[in-house]
Amino acid sequence: MAETQKPANHVYFFDTTLRDGEQSPGCSMTTQEKLTMAHALEDLGVDIVEAGFAMASEGDFAAIATITQAIHKPRIASLARAKKEDIEMAARALQFADRARIHVFLASSDLHLEYKLKISRAEALDLTGESVRLARSLVDDVEFSPEDATRSELNFLVEMVRIAIEAGATTINMPDTVGYTTPEEYGQMFREVRKRVPAIDAQGIILSSHCHDDLGLAVANSLAAIQNGARQVECTINGIGERAGNAALEEIAAALYVRGDRYGVKTGLNLNQLYPASQVLGQLITFRPSPNKAIVGDNAFAHESGIHQHGMLANPLCYEIMTPTLVGVAHNHLVLGKHSGRAALRNRFEQLGYTLTRDELQHTYYRFVALADRKKNIYDYDLVGILPDQIREKRREPVSELD
Ligand code: KIV
Ligand code: ZN
Repeated sequence: MAETQKPANHVYFFDTTLRDGEQSPGCSMTTQEKLTMAHALEDLGVDIVEAGFAMASEGDFAAIATITQAIHKPRIASLARAKKEDIEMAARALQFADRARIHVFLASSDLHLEYKLKISRAEALDLTGESVRLARSLVDDVEFSPEDATRSELNFLVEMVRIAIEAGATTINMPDTVGYTTPEEYGQMFREVRKRVPAIDAQGIILSSHCHDDLGLAVANSLAAIQNGARQVECTINGIGERAGNAALEEIAAALYVRGDRYGVKTGLNLNQLYPASQVLGQLITFRPSPNKAIVGDNAFAHESGIHQHGMLANPLCYEIMTPTLVGVAHNHLVLGKHSGRAALRNRFEQLGYTLTRDELQHTYYRFVALADRKKNIYDYDLVGILPDQIREKRREPVSELD
């Protein structure tokens, strides 16, 4: 499928749920499960799906090959170390893709070079050129990642990026591999590299962010990269990934939309597929997002306190910066608990088909507060249970939707 030219303010979403996400405990998926997730990502409109690391296992190879044959809108990528056998394996797994990308990575920090790879800086630069050239001889789209970029010496990082571009890299990703950087620092790194490697702008090379959440800054760092010229973000659904996870796709997407006034960029995402994609993932792996997780957590659009519920009923903008339906959540949720007020209680009774007078509401509210003190979750049948008989008999047709 031909790729249409994207405007300069388009931010490409590179989803790595099936690679970096799947690498974390409790997240491994079978080929069939990965395919299910890949369909959800295609519906969501991500630009690139990193389907796995072909050399890592037969399962990864099979998943990448299967996905290339079933998924046609996004480009499909495989990760590869800067090694001939990895790169050739990635190319084989991707051979049936409509549009393929090989994603080559090699550490750029002295720490990784000395202790993990035991090679010199000069050897790393040679490997960068050789591996990107090889990948480029096999596919026309090559991404290069200097691993641990944020803990690398800037001059060396710049040199590595320059060599990767000369060898044919079309995307340069600068990962915060260990979640160490801060928004100002990460943004500055993008600015510097872009300034010092003129080929980036001259040749239309895409700069990419890839952030881990060890300090809880992955999304903020990704947004800082975008403000400083990154036009690709690497992220995962529900923020799953190594250790504390990767930048959460749904949070970046919602921030770019809700605060479009600050970022001024466009994406190709169907935002109303964010929640469905999150749900699909939650069913495939061993855990769901925490209830207070932004955008997709159970409580992301829930309101319990009386003041908030009253405000919500008067005008949802009082306490919501986006509508739940924007991100595919069916409706907001006024949770009834001990902090709820009369307005929410009356509203829920209306929904259930009971219109209460002022006195009836007052009376029922006391019973409700007493119940809520004893019981964590109040269900509709509990509410009906606290109504006096004469009110219960006056029931009319219920209203099904809250908003
Ligand atoms: O975190 C990281 O550095 C990575 C690279 C392989 C891109 O996942
Ligand atoms: Zn990573």
